[in-house]
Amino acid sequence: MNDVLNTIKRRRMTRKFKSEQLKDEQIIAIIDAGQHAPTVHKQQAWNFTIIQDPELLDELSREAKKIGQKSSIDIIRKLNSSENYHLFYNAPTVIVVSADKEAMMPEAECVAATQNILLAAESMGIGACWIDGINMLLNSEEGEKYKKKLNLADNQISQRAISLGYRALKPLQPYPRKEGKYQFIR
Ligand SMILES: Cc1cc2nc3c(=O)[nH]c(=O)nc-3n(C[C@H](O)[C@H](O)[C@H](O)COP(=O)(O)O)c2cc1C
Repeated sequence: MNDVLNTIKRRRMTRKFKSEQLKDEQIIAIIDAGQHAPTVHKQQAWNFTIIQDPELLDELSREAKKIGQKSSIDIIRKLNSSENYHLFYNAPTVIVVSADKEAMMPEAECVAATQNILLAAESMGIGACWIDGINMLLNSEEGEKYKKKLNLADNQISQRAISLGYRALKPLQPYPRKEGKYQFIR
């Protein structure tokens, strides 16, 4: 198997991080990988906001959790009601991937960029976790204040976030995939 396939198959989410900060060069290389994802008509609708202020990250976590506690989905309500749950798992760096809401397919572009970011991090031995909970806050009325704090322009809609940092635990093992999930039509 080649390096790319190995990285894809090895990748797991990290949910426990060391407090040691990543180097700027590592983060820039990871974002560069995000920017090399497919983009609709080369629109490159995404924008990447790198948050490294621990107090702001704690505040975003607290506020998003308050919204999550009101969710109609049981599992989300329970998770966000847990005192030990931190939206970003206390990662030292969080990248918010937002996009111009007037673009053709902002969500698809941000998902593609997010996956590239996860794979780039994995290939560099850096832990990462996909975090969608942030959208509950940033795309809500209460979130306007936080959009301003993050310097997100009015046309930007938060799509995803990724927690990043050095892993505090050994990487999880890949788990078996469902069988019979593909069919050739010939
Ligand atoms: C659309 C999407 C949203 C996700 N949101 C979160 C999230 O908010 N918090 C989290 O811890 N993991 C989140 N995940 C990660 C999944 O929980 C994770 O991929 C799944 O448990 C499988 O584990 P693995 O990626 O390590 O193989 C999300 C994944 C996807 C695809």
